[in-house]
Amino acid sequence: MTKKISVPRGTADILPADIPLWNHIEKQSRQCIEQYGYREIRTPIFEDSALFKRSLGQTSDVVNKQLLELAGDKKDGFALRPEGTAAVVRSYIENNLDRQEQLSKLYYIGSMFRGERPQKGRLREFHQIGVEAIGPKTSYPLLDAEMITLSVELLKRIGLTGFQLKINTLGTPEDKQKLSDVLRSQLEPYKTELCEDCQARMDRNVFRVLDCKNRGCKEIVSKLTFQDEYLSEESQDYYKQVKEGLDLLGISYEESPCLVRGLDYYTHTVFEISNPALGAQDALGAGGRYNKLVAQLGGSDEVHACGFALGMERLILSLEDQDLNFESSVDALILTFSDEALTKGFEVVHQLRKSGIKADLNFKTGSMKSQMRLANKVGAKNVLIIGDDELVKNAAAVKNMETGEQEEIKFESLVKFFGG
Ligand code: HAM
Repeated sequence: MTKKISVPRGTADILPADIPLWNHIEKQSRQCIEQYGYREIRTPIFEDSALFKRSLGQTSDVVNKQLLELAGDKKDGFALRPEGTAAVVRSYIENNLDRQEQLSKLYYIGSMFRGERPQKGRLREFHQIGVEAIGPKTSYPLLDAEMITLSVELLKRIGLTGFQLKINTLGTPEDKQKLSDVLRSQLEPYKTELCEDCQARMDRNVFRVLDCKNRGCKEIVSKLTFQDEYLSEESQDYYKQVKEGLDLLGISYEESPCLVRGLDYYTHTVFEISNPALGAQDALGAGGRYNKLVAQLGGSDEVHACGFALGMERLILSLEDQDLNFESSVDALILTFSDEALTKGFEVVHQLRKSGIKADLNFKTGSMKSQMRLANKVGAKNVLIIGDDELVKNAAAVKNMETGEQEEIKFESLVKFFGG
């Protein structure tokens, strides 16, 4: 037999049975995000590799180990997008959105790609729901608070409970530099106890040590004692106002000084939402302020931004345990028992669908028993039975599958009967 071809490792099919849950998340997300005044943007699935290398940080794992570059003849070619922020910023600059609006409120839903070692909740192709607010001089602490609130409200809207919000501030780039000095000096005595990766990270980008999943490194990180001494007064005040905004809206959060995030572009506010029930890959989403990225990608230094992204696969994993019911079955399934009845059914299903009724026709004119088994399997709300008797009466026997009640409805009244 010819060898079967499997789905690539770290990717997955989303089968029809899973689609209602995906649709539910997308629909609720769109509604919620648009209520906050955001508009959708769609950017290509691949971009110039340089875009990601310049924005996410040469020392970030995403660029260093996980960028999926496309083989081509150009030396520095294209890469599948590992996240959405860099591409949205590229598009913002390229399309001069700053000249069109004071604050661009943009969102996206789509596939992202990272060449990671696959495990539960960690894939090579995954999907994000992302939100970005970009505009000249738009560093408003209340905008950060609103952004965090939106991420929390969105999760509630899709039916999630039991998640945790952690926040922190990295301050200005100068503060961030001071923080990295503090970290380096505090980690120095433990350097030889850190994993090999982290020893290299200490020189290249000490923040990455705080994200390390290695148990020994985590233990060392838990001993660090830095407070907010690296923050300028201005940064402390900014952070205070973000927290006041969250308090005002009743959003509960935990302050986490070790939260630095794995991408280089963050300054000031950073946040992460996690679901402890998910195990090792527990981050549902993350984000923060990234005031320097626009300038770094060739735009104006005055354009500031903040945003977040949620990972859809991890939302799905979290929702699977919760008892949510998504209706996707047909209102009417037509069952027929002869070629002549099938032709009539073919016509009837067309009329129902044209009137906005979700209807289907079973093309296989088998026994009543086998056809009813099918109706139960697909969860049809009603079956329309058309046999020879019905053809003579110009009517269908309509059986409500929930109550078991059956009544005869003339063909010409079916659309009205189903409220079309
Ligand atoms: P991130 O923290 O790299 O941030 O990813 C955000 C979320 O995407 C994660 O919390 C996780 O739920 C999901 N995710 C990431 N990698 C994977 C993977 N390999 N498999 C499954 N899910 C994954 C960003 O991407 C930033 N662009 C967020 C942002 C937007 N910051 C500002 N604006």
